[in-house]
Amino acid sequence: MQQLVIKAFGDASQLKLVERESISLATNEIRVRMHFAGVNPVDAKTRAGLGWGAEAIKDKLPWAPGLEVMGTVLELGAEVNIYQPGDRVFGLLAGGGYSEQLVLPANALLRVPSSVSDETAAGLSLAGITAWQALTEHGLLKAGERVLISAAAGGVGHLAVQLAKDLGANVIALASAHNHEFLRSLGADEVLDYKDAAQLSALAPVDLLLDLVGGESGLGLLSRVKGGGRVVTVPTNTAEKVIAAATSLDLNATGMLKHNDNQQLAMLMQRVVEQKLRVEISHVYPLAEGELAHRQIETGHSRGKILLQG
Ligand SMILES: NC(=O)c1ccc[n+]([C@@H]2O[C@H](COP(=O)([O-])OP(=O)(O)OC[C@H]3O[C@@H](n4cnc5c(N)ncnc54)[C@H](OP(=O)(O)O)[C@@H]3O)[C@@H](O)[C@H]2O)c1
Repeated sequence: MQQLVIKAFGDASQLKLVERESISLATNEIRVRMHFAGVNPVDAKTRAGLGWGAEAIKDKLPWAPGLEVMGTVLELGAEVNIYQPGDRVFGLLAGGGYSEQLVLPANALLRVPSSVSDETAAGLSLAGITAWQALTEHGLLKAGERVLISAAAGGVGHLAVQLAKDLGANVIALASAHNHEFLRSLGADEVLDYKDAAQLSALAPVDLLLDLVGGESGLGLLSRVKGGGRVVTVPTNTAEKVIAAATSLDLNATGMLKHNDNQQLAMLMQRVVEQKLRVEISHVYPLAEGELAHRQIETGHSRGKILLQG
């Protein structure tokens, strides 16, 4: 079976398709044929040797990225009775999603409802769970509050806009002009161009800032948060800096690292089934073209999600 791996940290050209031996199944495991794997900024940062992801795998190269997947069950371990071959499954992984086949504990993934497309299921998990945990566990968002979401058209942002709206918040979304109509269609109450300083400075203060860009962008948006308001800064590499600046302004700021939670994932999928949550897929690349997918995610200007097709 083929797998897209890096043998050393570096640019996107480090991603190479290799032939790997199939692993035999333990009794509680399933073999899954990957149909789509999500591509996320953390995959590219880790490939480049940056952040907590690279630290965790630096002694485990070659390494296959991929933290979310959708596929069909191919084979069952002897004790697995919750699936049949052919069942459609999706969910979060510890890594290795950029593979034609995966071997996983049977309870690691969830079933894809029949009304949901393969692509939607593949793109939901990582961005969806991050958006949900950022808004609720960390941001403590309440109905009627004003939330400002940066990178609102991106993978996490476009789901956060819809979830925040569903939670009863007043949603202000930041994006380039070409994404404004898209964000209004997702329910954003106000849409601002983050490059327009006059628009930003005229914005009435918000209760919660969901900072999905970090660095200078996150620092610049702190002045838009009410005194005593809350900040969740999601990119981990600049979180310390943004939290320190927010704290000096008497804001309640936190960083976060998403955690796997299949109950939350099932709840998000239920929202998809009920058509309250829509996953936008902007680009799909064959597994063999992972390099192009990484170049696209590294532009920092993708709309919604990018997938690899197995
Ligand atoms: N801590 C965690 O657990 C966790 C989990 C998931 C993601 N993350 C991090 O969260 C960040 C967002 O992830 P993602 O998957 O949503 O990324 P993404 O899909 O690559 O985000 C792309 C979006 O960023 C927008 N953008 C770029 N520069 C901007 C700026 N200066 N101001 C406002 N928007 C800007 C772009 O908007 P336009 O095209 O409209 O310009 C584009 O729509 C990444 O840094 C990622 O690594 C962290």
